[in-house]
Parts: sequence; C-alpha cells; structure tokens
Amino acid sequence: MAFESDYIWLEGKFVPFKEAKLHFLTSSLHYGTSVFEGIRSYNTPEGPAVFRLKDHLRRLIQSTHILGMKELPYTFDEMYDATLELVRMNKMEECYIRPLIYINSGGWNLSVNNVGIGMGIAVWKWNNYLGEEALRNGIRANIASFPRHHPNITMTKGKVSGNYINSVLAKSESMLLGFDEAVMLDTNGNVSECTGENIFVVRNGVIYTPPRSSVLEGLTRESVMMLARDYGFSVVEDTITRDQLYIADEVFVTGTAAEIIALSEIDFRKIGSGVTGPVCKKVQELYSDLIHGKNEKYADWLDLIYTVETVATGTEG
Ligand SMILES: Cc1ncc(COP(=O)(O)O)c(C=O)c1O
Repeated sequence: MAFESDYIWLEGKFVPFKEAKLHFLTSSLHYGTSVFEGIRSYNTPEGPAVFRLKDHLRRLIQSTHILGMKELPYTFDEMYDATLELVRMNKMEECYIRPLIYINSGGWNLSVNNVGIGMGIAVWKWNNYLGEEALRNGIRANIASFPRHHPNITMTKGKVSGNYINSVLAKSESMLLGFDEAVMLDTNGNVSECTGENIFVVRNGVIYTPPRSSVLEGLTRESVMMLARDYGFSVVEDTITRDQLYIADEVFVTGTAAEIIALSEIDFRKIGSGVTGPVCKKVQELYSDLIHGKNEKYADWLDLIYTVETVATGTEG
C-alpha cells in the first residue's frame, strides 16, 4: 500500500500501522467534522527538514477554531514534537505528513459542542503528485460546473474534511471529462482556486492572484508571493475573470502537494505558449531552492528532522 509506514501517531501513542483504527461509529466519518493538514518534508544540505511545519500546525488549530471545536487534547508543542518524532520513527526523509483532528466521542446531534476530540498523524513516502512531465509542460484544466464554497456557507479558510466534497465533485467531473484539474469560480462567478491549489495568472510580466476572500490561504501561495516579490516581480491580488484566464500569458497553480504547475490549457484553449512559461519556470526554481534549504532568508521555515540531539540520543531510528 502506497501509504504504508511503520507507525501512525494516534491519540498520543505511536501505534503500528495496521493497528491504527477508529470505530465505524466515529461521527466525523459520517458528517465530515474533522480537520486536516497536508505537510511535506524535503532533503536539504543540513538533512531532511519539514517545510513550514509551524505554519501548517497553526492553520490546523485555526481550522478547529473555525469549526467550533474547543479544548483540543494536545498542545501546539505536543503536535509539533509528535510530528517530528513520527517521521524519525518511520525513518522517513522526503515524505508527506497528514495530521487529522476528529471527534472521537459524541457529535451525533450534528454539533461539535461537548464532544471528545481525537487526533492522529500519518506519514508516507512521497512520490511526485503530478509527475515530471507536468512540471515541464503543465497540465490541462477545465472550469468546474460546481462553484467554490461561499464564504458564509461552509467558509473557505479551514481545511475541514466535509468542505472537500466541493473539491471532490469538481475534480471527479474534471477527470471524467479528460482533464487533469478543475479551476473553480466563486459564487460571484470570479476565479477562485483549484480543487487543492491556489491559482496565479501572468499578464505583461505582472503576476495576479485572486484575493483571499473565497480561497484557502495557501502556504505555498504565500511563499510564492514572497519569493516572486523578493525577485522583483510585481504581485497583485485582484479579481480575475474566466476570460482573463483564457488570454493570460501564463497561468499556474500552487499547493503543498502539486508545488507549482502551469495550466497549459483551460477549456480547450491553449494558455500562452501552451507549455510552462518563463515566469512559472522562474517561480518553480525559486520555490525548489526554498524547500531544499537553499534560500538563507527563509531558513527558519525548515525544521530539521534529525538534529544533533536526536542523532546523539538515537531517536532517529
Ligand atoms: C482548496 C485548497 N486550496 C489551496 C491549497 C493550497 O494550500 P497549501 O499551499 O497550504 O498547501 C489547498 C491545499 O491544502 C487546498 O486544499
């Protein structure tokens, strides 16, 4: 199984992979009342390191707050330590890290009030999400027939499991139609984001991205905006329409899983040159340096998995 590892951290304990089970009557499974994160570690010259772990854990806790969960059973520091220890126990280097916070008792009255809360973390070896070919030549997208969440219905800032039905509907439709990814419009009809990525448009050398109102505040989005500005690009948050995608010089998407990938075609219309354009290429390069520990300015975004201390005490496995 592609997700297999030696251990999963479940409710405070490191449990062998096959024993990490929840009961069928876990209400979060029935109502989507859980929250999660997607985090990655990369090799760097100092050893493998988790990229923006603290920011991901902050967003995880914010997601519980948005959902209305109270009194989490673990502190930020406990989540942080458990994550790094789990990666070490599984002897992983480049991997994907998936924490999930869920209701482990109660929740059957469709409320998150007075429930028991549990948490698990899994890690698995990471293989390129969309492949090398996608990096060079981009992927093909359609505009989803499903609009993105309304900020006042399930809201857009939390990575709440139930919210992902919106992405699942759009992505399944897109793949059945023969595309690789779906671009979603917000309820006003403007470009919002993709099913698991934020979106950027390049026109006349300027990089545009939709404002934060209807999108997940992606950490890759933020990293890319900072890197692009550091490099000298002008980056503007602005409303983007569907036809502005069609006439863009370049369109690219950003996310922890996909990293940075060009959309070479949208709705059967070639975008720009029809392959990864020069601005996207530059941003891919800057991002690759960043996550692999080659950008001094953001060195504190990388938390080393095996520090001198863990190696000396043998906890690196
Ligand atoms: C809907 C959605 N938008 C954007 C993103 C990108 O966020 P990040 O860059 O933090 O991975 C994700 C992935 O978590 C997502 O699920």
